[in-house]
Amino acid sequence: MNSTFHTPVLVQEVLLFLAVQKDKTYIDATIGGGGHGFEILKRDGIVLGIDVDEEAIDYVKKILRDKDIKILGEKYDSSLNISLSQYPGITLVRGNFKDIARIVQGTEFERVEGILFDLGVSSMQLDTSKRGFSFQKEAPLDMRMDQRLHVKAMDLLNGLTKKELYELFTKFGEERFAHAISGGIVSTRGIKKITTTKELAMLVEKIAGRRHDIHPVTKVFQALRIAVNDELHNLELGLTDSVELLNKNGKLVVISFHSLEDRIVKRTFLRFEKEGRGTVITKKPVRPSQKEVFLNRRARSALLRVFAKA
Ligand SMILES: C[S@@+](CC[C@H](N)C(=O)[O-])C[C@H]1O[C@@H](n2cnc3c(N)ncnc32)[C@H](O)[C@@H]1O
Repeated sequence: MNSTFHTPVLVQEVLLFLAVQKDKTYIDATIGGGGHGFEILKRDGIVLGIDVDEEAIDYVKKILRDKDIKILGEKYDSSLNISLSQYPGITLVRGNFKDIARIVQGTEFERVEGILFDLGVSSMQLDTSKRGFSFQKEAPLDMRMDQRLHVKAMDLLNGLTKKELYELFTKFGEERFAHAISGGIVSTRGIKKITTTKELAMLVEKIAGRRHDIHPVTKVFQALRIAVNDELHNLELGLTDSVELLNKNGKLVVISFHSLEDRIVKRTFLRFEKEGRGTVITKKPVRPSQKEVFLNRRARSALLRVFAKA
């Protein structure tokens, strides 16, 4: 497999918690480059891999083709707007994990031993400049994970009021300079629309200044990405429906990359526990080793939590 696509994080830890068994079913709700999904497949688990990003699904299909694994069938479900491709041992669905309950209806994945969510963007999404996820590369401010969505980051940036921008940067970015940044955006776009990653990065740097290693536009990008993809809402829906799909002692494993996501995971797991649905196995989130962070910088903010179904 092309390792430059995406280096999966916390693989050993995920596998330890999932304890994959031959011929049992598992859902990788964010298949991305297939990093975790193929590890489950290698251990003879039967995998349902979901992703909203057409390029991710195409990439995994290409890996399967390169391995000479033949497609068994394909279908499109217009009511859910999902396409499903079936291979021996793995089924791929281009769809949103918020629809997980409906996606698995009538399939062998209605009950599973484990479900993995590896949130955030993949390295391929970050590295493909036209997607607009990275402020390191000049590109149109797009940020849609699902190419079928209509609203791009630039639409929010140029269309929301100053107050709405302020709320967005505060709520989804916990950005200290939200007030000054939203003001600066509104004045700048009065002269010329802000449409590219670098234009936004330079504007925010001018307003907020550079104080440390982390670029001052990081949280503004995070906030826009969360809003464009409705990420926090999708996560709540996806987790809530996933717990229903687990067999007794089945595991829900979630890797998040920032505190807003992690807070939702932590609270949802505690709610499940209170409702008597099982046990939170990780009282504190599991973090990658120093070695992993050294080898893969994207791993540095990863937080893994696990819930076991009663
Ligand atoms: C960090 S990557 C996953 C990488 C994968 N575990 C691997 O090792 O290759 C996250 C993936 O989740 C997908 N994604 C994000 N939100 C989603 C959603 N609501 N439904 C389905 N997929 C989603 C993204 O498109 C991206 O490909």
